[in-house]
Amino acid sequence: MEVIITENTAEAGRLAADAIQDLITANPDAVIGLATGSSPQSIYDELARRVGQGIVSFARVQAFTLDEYVGLPHNHPERYRNVITRDFVTKVDIDPGNVHGPDGQASDIAAACAAYEEAITAAGGVDLQILGIGTDGHIGFNEPGSSLASRTRIKTLTKQTRSDNARFFGGDPDAVPRHCLTQGIGTIMDARHLLLLASGRGKAEAVHQLVEGPISALWPASVLQMHAHVTVIIDTAAASRLQLASYFTETYAAKPTEQRL
Ligand code: GLP
Repeated sequence: MEVIITENTAEAGRLAADAIQDLITANPDAVIGLATGSSPQSIYDELARRVGQGIVSFARVQAFTLDEYVGLPHNHPERYRNVITRDFVTKVDIDPGNVHGPDGQASDIAAACAAYEEAITAAGGVDLQILGIGTDGHIGFNEPGSSLASRTRIKTLTKQTRSDNARFFGGDPDAVPRHCLTQGIGTIMDARHLLLLASGRGKAEAVHQLVEGPISALWPASVLQMHAHVTVIIDTAAASRLQLASYFTETYAAKPTEQRL
């Protein structure tokens, strides 16, 4: 696991955008995994800037989102499909038809989840998955207690997550849907490169557990310790509980520039 401690979110966005740009430059048909939430915003903004300057193009890229609320109406602004459209799709040159997400309005949830798994497999799997992390250590919407081998399925959101996400629903936790569809932890772990961003003191405990904790369903992101290619980009506040913070900082500073993300 590579841990990079940055000065600010703009720098984190630039580093993550570098990794995505390198991937797409090497393979214009790459498959990327998109995440919602505030953490990836700096990546999307930086990628939009580079697309505008003609540095990178998503014209042939396929994208799969991590998760979706169950039951939100088609035009609800917080439906994750609409969030991704607003935050990413409209800012870059990706074909909206190449952006896929689990169907939170499906009448047959199990079939929709199975179809989503099949679509990811048919696309050749995800080359690079962008991730945020919940304050309770969730990735996607895999809440504490999730099977570390899980596939795309329905989950019940915790009170903590509904309270964290209430800011998107007028501050009312009860307005946040109770259920979601999410790629499973096994699904996420199949992506070839995982790129996780986190910032702020509120994420410090989750980041500590992710990087240094025992691997446990209690902190689902801790399973990333078992993945061969993970990059964690965090600010100093999110790194504030890391015992190994100075080791990570020194290691990254000593890296030749061309080997940095
Ligand atoms: C949300 C999403 C996650 C996201 C996380 C953190 O509930 N389902 O994919 O990573 O919570 O969000 P944020 O980056 O806004 O803190």
